[in-house]
Amino acid sequence: MIINGNLNLPGDKSISHRAVMLASLAKGKSEIRNLSSAKDVASTISCLANCGIQFNNGPGGLFVNGGMLKDPDVSLDCGNSGTTMRLLIGLLSGQGINATLIGDESLSSRPMKRVINPLKKMGVDISSNNYKSPIEIRKSQLKGINYESPIASAQIKSCILFAGIGAIGSTTYTEPNISRNHSEIMLNNIGVTINSDNMRTAISFSEDFKPLNFTIPSDPSTASFFIAAAILIPDSRLILNRILLNKTRTGFIKAIKRMGCKIEYLDNWIENGEKIGNIKVSHQKLKAITIGSNEIPSIIDELPILAIMATQAKGITTVTGAKELRVKESDRISTICNNLARMGANIRELPDGFIIEGPTKLHGASIETCDDHRIAMTFQIASLISSGNIQLDNDSCASISFPEFYSTLKSILQ
Ligand code: S3P
Repeated sequence: MIINGNLNLPGDKSISHRAVMLASLAKGKSEIRNLSSAKDVASTISCLANCGIQFNNGPGGLFVNGGMLKDPDVSLDCGNSGTTMRLLIGLLSGQGINATLIGDESLSSRPMKRVINPLKKMGVDISSNNYKSPIEIRKSQLKGINYESPIASAQIKSCILFAGIGAIGSTTYTEPNISRNHSEIMLNNIGVTINSDNMRTAISFSEDFKPLNFTIPSDPSTASFFIAAAILIPDSRLILNRILLNKTRTGFIKAIKRMGCKIEYLDNWIENGEKIGNIKVSHQKLKAITIGSNEIPSIIDELPILAIMATQAKGITTVTGAKELRVKESDRISTICNNLARMGANIRELPDGFIIEGPTKLHGASIETCDDHRIAMTFQIASLISSGNIQLDNDSCASISFPEFYSTLKSILQ
């Protein structure tokens, strides 16, 4: 069995959420091509449709008729998606919308204080279930603030910047480490006055936004599963086209290069402010590395699959400064460590990461996904290099970010 193929993956999930949200603000028709097929993005679209925005699928992409947000008649169901909930709270507060936002069991247990407190400082009339969802926002006049976030999170940053669009005066947001900057790039593209200087971003009240017309680059987080498979399985090779190479998202590529992987950049270019490229990866022998807090935001969603690679790397791989992993769709530090231990890995759980000594031969086990899409996809890839069967207790949750995950994997396995 080898991996051999050439993939054109759906658009990046983070960019897709932001594209439909900002297209909803722009008066007129936006056209978005290669939108993510994630269920999470469908949740964002359905929330915005309930706020009066029209979405139509055309032959080449999604058409969005924006510029007329209204109060929804129903609660906005964000499903499993933290990005949907946190970004929409900011966006809708800034536009004076009255709404209640709800989510599934996992989302209802995730922390929202991180966005509620700064929004309250901006004057948002907001209530919650003890800082968790359901969250209710009521129309209020917002004022700009200077906010220093204790957490490096693009969701918090985007929430505050989106609220800042509708606030009197200017809003500045400072983060402790650079997180993904797609909101900043796209806000600039639609004509918002926004300035970023390293960790500090300033935004001013804006209206009259330009519609979007663009093709979303392929999702590097989804790609990481296939990249890992190609690197782990001898004689494999894989080409990925139009992959997003924004440097706030290339932590995984940088980390695996340090592990000894050769990534061939066939081509790269900038489109709508985002770096994109075609890359080629092939099987490599791996060595252990150390990953610390500075790198974490750029590799946060890829740490589960990196852990599988670390079990096959020679030496001790240490990941620290990643306590945010504990408040994702599941407690990913514990889901990674428990499941890998069941498969025979030499792994130790830390409060903010894990230590893995490799290489070890992984064996079959039953895997508790905790209904977390990235955990399901991670252990499906682990099954390719393990002896014995792997049983995932929920494989369908992969559709939260990539409904075509299993068929895509099948298409490149020979
Ligand atoms: C995201 C940011 C990250 C990431 C999530 C998507 C985004 O979360 O884990 O999958 O689109 O802004 P945090 O910003 O909370 O770390």
